[in-house]
Amino acid sequence: MTTKKAVISGTGLFTPDSSISNDELVESFNTWSQQYNKDNEQAIAAGEIEPQPESNAEFILKASGIRSRYVMDKEGILDPERMRPRIPERSNEEPSIQCEMALKAANQALDSAGRLPQDVDMVIVACSNMQRPYPAVAVEVQHHLGAGGFGYDMNVACSSATFGLQAAVSAIESGSASCVLMVNPEICTGHLNFRDRDSHFIFGDACTAVVVEAEDKARLNNAFRVLGTKTWTGFSSNIRNNFGFLNHCDESGIGQKDKLFVQNGRKVFKEVCPKVAEHIQQHLQELELQPDALSRMWLHQANLSMNQLISKKVLGRVPEATEAPVILDEYANTSSAGSIIAFHKHSQDLDPGDKGVICSFGAGYSVGSVVVERI
Ligand code: COA
Repeated sequence: MTTKKAVISGTGLFTPDSSISNDELVESFNTWSQQYNKDNEQAIAAGEIEPQPESNAEFILKASGIRSRYVMDKEGILDPERMRPRIPERSNEEPSIQCEMALKAANQALDSAGRLPQDVDMVIVACSNMQRPYPAVAVEVQHHLGAGGFGYDMNVACSSATFGLQAAVSAIESGSASCVLMVNPEICTGHLNFRDRDSHFIFGDACTAVVVEAEDKARLNNAFRVLGTKTWTGFSSNIRNNFGFLNHCDESGIGQKDKLFVQNGRKVFKEVCPKVAEHIQQHLQELELQPDALSRMWLHQANLSMNQLISKKVLGRVPEATEAPVILDEYANTSSAGSIIAFHKHSQDLDPGDKGVICSFGAGYSVGSVVVERI
């Protein structure tokens, strides 16, 4: 039996309506921190608690490259009395919010693949935070879409989409599915501590979707052949969130910081960049490709300097802006959706035969790469 070749035949993107600029975010943070320091004047003066520092929009842009982020609820995040998105719980009879985002991105991806929902026989929902443990959001998406087959949820933090693509490609190659929908509904603002100056600017919300099919069955107008996938994990607590069904977070975001996103950003930067560059280089070697065979690198979107460093290490020269497209200035870090947003927005101009790599990295640590060729 010959192995089927998998192709990415379509992609979709849901972007929330509201966006928050760095200035708006910093104004809210500083209003809160000034009030906090005033309310705790005596305890701070007595050295019992630390004062809250002020944030700065110039620092944010320089340290991260982020200018703004799209969010599901702007008002709740910017309210200095709250500083969390206000996303009301829904009844079991309504589609959940992650399902709703997923359907929007999924329908766009299916349109671009020239497929109908009933053609789908496998749904993977892959993202950093699931809104409930079960039933799987993927099964809900399958139901509302009217897809057949089966679905499951998976989480490899920021690498969820590339690991999801690896699972989709394997399913196509083995014949266990013929049309896979892989979706990444990321509501990153729900796990972000907007009262932590060092990270309050990092994340935004978005949802991406990718259709993966066998090359001999797919409509190939927008398609990319998958030349190979490669995944790696190695344990680290430098990006961590201890929230779970055995331990919940309080409302303040101060007392139990570890039940929201926590990172040692400097260490992540230092440890992850060389690992990612080496991972891509090894992947290319395994595929008998030279780095200069890459026309494009759709990298995880967490930090601009990180992406510049990784693409420079891989290519052995400073890349042109078009070679490693950046979307994090507008979207911030959307976790697993980031590299797929870059791919969705910056891939259709490539010529047949052009190659590129979708690569994500993040908590775990984890690195995932998918090398593709325009058909
Ligand atoms: N406003 C003003 N100053 C700030 C600030 C803010 N919002 N946040 C931090 N600072 C200060 C720090 O307190 C520090 O001051 P000090 O030198 O007096 O101690 C200084 O700015 C530098 O902070 P540091 O945290 O070392 O900045 P950085 O250059 O490492 O940039 C990140 C911070 C988070 C942008 C960067 O480390 C990063 O992106 N790392 C990788 C993160 C990543 O990819 N994570 C994956 C998530 S999925």
